[in-house]
Amino acid sequence: MANEYTFPKGFWWGSATSATQIEGAANEGGKGPNIWDYWYKKEPNRFFENVGPEKTSDFYHLYKEDIQLMKEIGHNSFRMSISWSRLIPNGKGEVNEEAVTFYNNVINELIDNGIEPFVNLFHFDMPLKLQQVGGWENRDVVEAYADYAEICFRLFGNRVKKWFTFNEPIVPVEGGYLYDFHYPNIVDFKKAAQVAFHTVLASAKAIERFRKEKVSDGKIGIILNLTPSYPRSQNPYDLKASRIADLFFNRSFLDPAVLGEYPEELIEILREHGQLPVVQDGDLEFIKNHTVDLLGVNYYQPRRVKAKEHLPNPYSPFMPDWFFDNYEMPGRKMNPYRGWEIYEKGIYDIMINLKENYGNIESFISENGMGVQNEERFLKDGMIHDDYRIEFIKGHLQWLHKAIEEGANCKGYHLWTFMDNWSWCNAYKNRYGFVSVDITTQKRSLKKSALWFKQVSHNNGF
Ligand code: BG6
Repeated sequence: MANEYTFPKGFWWGSATSATQIEGAANEGGKGPNIWDYWYKKEPNRFFENVGPEKTSDFYHLYKEDIQLMKEIGHNSFRMSISWSRLIPNGKGEVNEEAVTFYNNVINELIDNGIEPFVNLFHFDMPLKLQQVGGWENRDVVEAYADYAEICFRLFGNRVKKWFTFNEPIVPVEGGYLYDFHYPNIVDFKKAAQVAFHTVLASAKAIERFRKEKVSDGKIGIILNLTPSYPRSQNPYDLKASRIADLFFNRSFLDPAVLGEYPEELIEILREHGQLPVVQDGDLEFIKNHTVDLLGVNYYQPRRVKAKEHLPNPYSPFMPDWFFDNYEMPGRKMNPYRGWEIYEKGIYDIMINLKENYGNIESFISENGMGVQNEERFLKDGMIHDDYRIEFIKGHLQWLHKAIEEGANCKGYHLWTFMDNWSWCNAYKNRYGFVSVDITTQKRSLKKSALWFKQVSHNNGF
């Protein structure tokens, strides 16, 4: 049967993961502690059902088996991250040879199986030793990160051709410094702005090191969670609120990473409210000269916004009068198993925005996915029948296809995620994988969506 939707030749079909969420072996193989290991010990009750990251999906031991499954379900590419504290246990200084062997093995195994490794350097997992000196608040950590990045390029750059400096760098800012859902659980806007700026600078520094290393044919990018911001109405207050949401949650990273400059309006708002971070001479020029080659877009749901109504916001200890409120638009389509909105057209809006306002930078969908609680309820004859996930992916791919037809420079689609895994404070609450994992026995089973995706990848469309 001919495809109704065919994607460009060589489209990247695969899925995304992160080290802390899949590797397990948190205290093995010479790994140093990161903030998640530490915070879990300190406050286990902050984690769903008190489950921490020690074991997760045990990719550290089972990677060969997992890579066979990736191959079986049609992956031509796969995103992983390197655990900084596994590679360099203290964050800086000595490199852990066991980690070098592990990542070499994983990278080689992927390549031998025809799967291109996409490697991300930082997915929320700051080495504890560096957090103890202030983490991203401390400019020295920016240099330590650039050194770590360079070590990775040297060790693996002869085989890895797609690199990413960060995954969703806004999340540690929001979680750790505004809304108290990540360690170090600080609520301080000024510090949040400093952390955000240091992350942008760190990304630019890694790009400088990458270009110096001349990784042949290699590209370097960043992965951002872009949440298109839609106002409640065309009333000027709602419009302004929506613009503020966009400036803070999308453009604060997107503009410097791709265009090399911060939006003027964002700088003005920060200045007006006395929240500008400390920036040294030359930093802005440095950022300007080190923009990305490639952009990963994580898209889950849009942001519906209304003007601030001065009501206490139960979700947020951070709520200055000049910010915005989230708006629960009546009638929006919701994922009944996770509680997030499903708005497939958002993916199209993002891609058209990149085409029109960001030089049509080369991009791909680096995460999109549907979390489901108690997914065992869909188990039938030994397989999870996740038809809802197939519908979810299809709906997004249709809009993505339309954007590509209209000229968007999108090169691939990666699902979040390959297999059910541990997720930050939510631990195993929401399942997202193509592959289900029994967390007691570590047995893997393909879900129905995995078999469907295999066909999509095989036919380069559906
Ligand atoms: C993404 C993150 O934004 O959301 C992942 O990059 C995370 O690391 C995923 O696991 C899902 O989050 P949750 O909280 O629904 O499990």
